[in-house]
Amino acid sequence: MIPDGVVLELASKRRSIRKFMTTPVPLGDVFYAIKAALQAPSGANRQPWRFVVIGDSETKMRIREASEAWEKRFHESGSLPEWFRKWLRERNITWEKPFLSEAPYLIAVFSRRGEPYARESTWLAIGYLLLALEEKGLASLTYTPANPNVLAKMIGTPRNYMLETIIPVGLAGEDKKKENRLSLREAVFINEWGNQV
Ligand SMILES: Cc1cc2nc3c(=O)[nH]c(=O)nc-3n(C[C@H](O)[C@H](O)[C@H](O)COP(=O)(O)O)c2cc1C
Repeated sequence: MIPDGVVLELASKRRSIRKFMTTPVPLGDVFYAIKAALQAPSGANRQPWRFVVIGDSETKMRIREASEAWEKRFHESGSLPEWFRKWLRERNITWEKPFLSEAPYLIAVFSRRGEPYARESTWLAIGYLLLALEEKGLASLTYTPANPNVLAKMIGTPRNYMLETIIPVGLAGEDKKKENRLSLREAVFINEWGNQV
């Protein structure tokens, strides 16, 4: 029997971590979480997702360097709206992405182009993955790089797969408060838009 409330507890506890310890974590726990992801529903059950688990230090560093070069441009471009700049500033999020080399593992997640609802399905699987990592006490972040095609090429990805996210996985190196969430009352209506719970 699965104890009542497990999913809500994991979902409530989970948060995005941007600072990781370099301490090794079991690869088996990463595979456990990917096994959970593989159980997700997908458009026509095409299971359009693929995962590359990267533990090699040199590869991680190359990914970090390539990402930071693009992030620097992105952060320094004048195109970001002021609210977003403020949001980033308050969280100390800069172009620097140390988690890409410091987390013991990176999970690169891909969707297969041309499949029905490929991206939706893949992100659903990512949701399963995050909760399963949380269950194993592993911190994570859905980092969405500014240069997905460059990174995909670096890890030898065929052209019909799109890099959706790179998820650093490891032990949290920071203590973070939970970001605000909407309440049931704010987010849910009954029978008709506007009828609050
Ligand atoms: C689709 C998606 C893309 C995201 N991309 C990034 C990213 O590139 N860099 C980053 O630091 N956080 C990224 N995040 C994390 C969000 O900022 C984070 O989930 C949100 O602020 C809520 O915080 P929490 O996950 O700690 O509850 C992303 C989250 C999602 C769902």
